[in-house]
Amino acid sequence: MDNREVLLEVKNVSKIYGDLHALKEVNFQVRKGEWVAIMGSSGSGKSTIMNIIGCMDKPSIGEVILDGQDITKESQHSLTKIRREKIGLIFQQFHLIPYLTALENVMVAQYYHSIP
Ligand SMILES: Nc1ncnc2c1ncn2[C@@H]1O[C@H](COP(=O)(O)OP(=O)(O)O)[C@@H](O)[C@H]1O
Ligand SMILES: [Mg+2]
Repeated sequence: MDNREVLLEVKNVSKIYGDLHALKEVNFQVRKGEWVAIMGSSGSGKSTIMNIIGCMDKPSIGEVILDGQDITKESQHSLTKIRREKIGLIFQQFHLIPYLTALENVMVAQYYHSIP
């Protein structure tokens, strides 16, 4: 039994574009310190769920609790703050900062926020 604190909880999340269900009733939890890979065929909704967890998009239905806070209810302004403080993203198209190392790119949010 893993007793570590739950850091992320995705509850009944759906993302609907017209009549296309990009995500349908997705449920999972991630605990503190856990490493997780989301795998699936092209078009299965990986980018959609990552954008929602990364506070760049919102679900059509459902809740996402990040560190105790329901991010689906937050304003764009507040989501910007949460991204800055809690999210580190490497995009599929990279968008890396060329003069930083790979590790420094991952740590950019921490640099801005002075987290050691
Ligand atoms: N902005 C959008 N408008 C309409 N359909 C979209 C949009 N974004 C993604 N989709 C559709 O949602 C489904 C999941 O896409 P996506 O999350 O990009 O999958 P993956 O990253 O696993 O390849 C696909 O059918 C895709 O065409
Ligand atoms: Mg994708």
